[in-house]
Amino acid sequence: MTGLNITREQMIQLLNEDLAGEYQAIIAYTVYSQVLKGAAYTDIARELEAHAGEELAHAIKIAKQIDYLGGMPCVTPKPVKTSNDPVEMLRADLENERKTVGRYRERIRQAEAMGEFALSETLRAIILQEQDHEIDLSAALDINVPPAIKPAEHNGRSHLKGNHASRR
Ligand SMILES: [Fe+2]
Ligand SMILES: [Fe+2]
Repeated sequence: MTGLNITREQMIQLLNEDLAGEYQAIIAYTVYSQVLKGAAYTDIARELEAHAGEELAHAIKIAKQIDYLGGMPCVTPKPVKTSNDPVEMLRADLENERKTVGRYRERIRQAEAMGEFALSETLRAIILQEQDHEIDLSAALDINVPPAIKPAEHNGRSHLKGNHASRR
């Protein structure tokens, strides 16, 4: 079972997990962009501030799609790591972006399998920016862009606990 063919309910649940990740990204970029100190980090701090705004736009788009599918958008972010070390902050951001790209790659395939092409288009526009975020962070860390992190295989049941019930 690839987890490609999912129900509308499962899509709502997965998009809510994506939305919680977008909230996490908004918070992390808001805070990190302001606390990154030192001449070496001036440029990346400005980029992180721009990322925060883009993550907010992603959150709104995902919430809109959840509403369209008849679900209720969640209100709780995934936990945000805190650190005083600039490199650790940038690594935490990059790690999250790699997970996000992995999740959206999967979500695009699932949306296509459902025939939800507008959702797929929305996700494609988002993943383009997430990959740009990876490039910015990798450049600041002076490393090559690492591969996306694939979400754990799911069988369509185990992690879908239905706490984001459909409104229909
Ligand atoms: Fe995002
Ligand atoms: Fe991002």
